[in-house]
Amino acid sequence: MVVVTGGTGYIGSHTVVELINNGYEVVILDNLSNSHLDVLDSIEEITSKRPTFFQVDVDDRNQLNTVFAELGTSVEAIIHFAAKKAVGESVQEPLMYYRNNVGSLVNILEQTQKHGISKFVFSSSCTVYGQPDVCPVTESTQRKEAESPYGNTKTICEDIIRDCCKVQELTAISLRYFNPIGAHSSGKIGELPVGTPNNLVPYVTQTAAGIRESLTIHGNDYPTLDGTCVRDYIHVVDLAKAHLQALKRLEGSLPKSKYEVYNIGTGDGKSVLQVVDAFIAATGINVPYKIGQRRGGDITEIFADTTLANQALNWKAELSLEDALSSSWNWEKNYRSRKG
Ligand code: WQD
Repeated sequence: MVVVTGGTGYIGSHTVVELINNGYEVVILDNLSNSHLDVLDSIEEITSKRPTFFQVDVDDRNQLNTVFAELGTSVEAIIHFAAKKAVGESVQEPLMYYRNNVGSLVNILEQTQKHGISKFVFSSSCTVYGQPDVCPVTESTQRKEAESPYGNTKTICEDIIRDCCKVQELTAISLRYFNPIGAHSSGKIGELPVGTPNNLVPYVTQTAAGIRESLTIHGNDYPTLDGTCVRDYIHVVDLAKAHLQALKRLEGSLPKSKYEVYNIGTGDGKSVLQVVDAFIAATGINVPYKIGQRRGGDITEIFADTTLANQALNWKAELSLEDALSSSWNWEKNYRSRKG
């Protein structure tokens, strides 16, 4: 049985679908602070199986003790998503982010120690690279000072996991996500930003749906092909599958280090304007936009070298930017139609 913390969230729910479809029994721990209970219904509609669910705060040590005492020795692995991830919010509330993101990880690792859980997959981020000097970035690209407390919590968590793997029966993999976008082809699960979206693609789809008047592109004076920032946008279903492959690697007998890190991206950088143009081409829906000021904390460009993940995880991104954008639009329409 696999415990998935944050399993009703955007990436968590897509990963739970892949796990169940590959025969795993899944238990979700989530506090529903950034997700909805009806995601469990959607997962059941997609997979015909309903994962066991515990509503807990993973930053509450006592709640975790109670849940893991109940789960007992049946936990074979943990995939840890539960964390706060709003970059701007983390700048304003650093202590909340360090307590929640780092405190939750310490609590969860304590459970691996107490219950002899030996396989661990961690949700890390390309933000640990800061603004790289050279792209594409490899896993040995030097991590730089993170642009935000959020990014710094990912750096700190990676080091905590590495140090625990040295002294306990624990083998772990950190997956450094690039920019997750898109939604499951069923249109039943997807990104559910609370309030005004921070991220580009949900803002694009809400603009296309008429919920937002127009998209503001945060700066077009960067040293890139068209002046807008470049990112590596990866379909969330490809990202979910990378977690399945990481789990399989941990279960397998191939030689591996006790702690490994992999870049999970497409290897292809796209600018903001290229994303907007690709959305319009893929959906036929116009997206009015205006050019605004640069956004504090934004880096100019980052995209991944995924050679290591391709080889060691037997994983490669298969879905295109257009697939991701079309699925995002499909989700936006489905979700709004369900919300009424
Ligand atoms: C992308 C580009 C914006 C909104 C995110 C997460 C971070 C990490 C990586 C997981 C930037 C521009 C955006 C808008 C815009 N994920 N933009 N107008 O900042 O790369 O980081 O993915 O760990 O947690 O925050 O993604 O989608 O916010 O921005 O012009 O309304 O789109 O300036 O250049 P980002 P993003």
